Amino acid sequence: MAQPRRSWPLVSNLNPRSSISEAYKILRTNIDFSNYDNAVHTIMITSCSMAEGKSTTAANLAVTYGQTNRNVLVIDADMRKPSQHHAFQISNRYGLSSVLSKQSTIQEALQLTSISNVTVMTSGPIPPNPSELLASKRMTSLIEELKADFDIIIVDTPPIIAITDAQIMANKCDGVILVVDSGKVKNEIALKAKSMLDHVQARILGVVLNKKKRVRNDDYYYYYGEREK
Ligand SMILES: Nc1ncnc2c1ncn2[C@@H]1O[C@H](COP(=O)(O)OP(=O)(O)O)[C@@H](O)[C@H]1O
Ligand SMILES: [Mg+2]
Repeated sequence: MAQPRRSWPLVSNLNPRSSISEAYKILRTNIDFSNYDNAVHTIMITSCSMAEGKSTTAANLAVTYGQTNRNVLVIDADMRKPSQHHAFQISNRYGLSSVLSKQSTIQEALQLTSISNVTVMTSGPIPPNPSELLASKRMTSLIEELKADFDIIIVDTPPIIAITDAQIMANKCDGVILVVDSGKVKNEIALKAKSMLDHVQARILGVVLNKKKRVRNDDYYYYYGEREK
């Protein structure tokens, strides 16, 4: 999908009628269609490497879900390079790391945003042991608790290839979207990411081809994968 100028991380909110916002809505609709059995409650967003557009996709997808009056939560599970507090312009004092290390309550770490129906749990202060925190039983029970309060939970993660965090989280989420920077990532690397997701039995909902250069009249292109499992 083509997109956001740097100053427009939440283009779906600022300019909901743009073709870019339309692309995020199509992504949402396709996820909904692949979710005919209502099994996808938690959606993880990852990519092969950094700066491919994971966080931008997570935030804009959340905004478009909010526009359908569903109660959405974004969890910033990228506790290495967190960014959702920047995207939504909120504090990062309390968040996932502080809840998991019992330095704050869940309620303290849930922040309403200026966007309708969108709540964010930011990363919290960067911890020394993100993988251990994500792998903890507390993380599993946290997701279960939050599922009771939110219609859709979107989980932003670090890149999958070099860091184990996304594989750990994939195992705790119902579906995964792989964001691929179309100008940067080679096929074999994307296939490696897919096999790493398969290895943890993740359900790959689709692949977003991001930062595609505009050709023809369309503003975006993405390929939406077959339902895997
Ligand atoms: N479709 C796109 N077109 C152009 N720039 C994009 C697009 N998606 C994201 N970006 C930009 O790429 C940079 C990295 O995006 P980000 O979402 O932070 O990546 P990640 O979370 O994968 O590290 C940001 O400056 C963002 O604005
Ligand atoms: Mg990011």
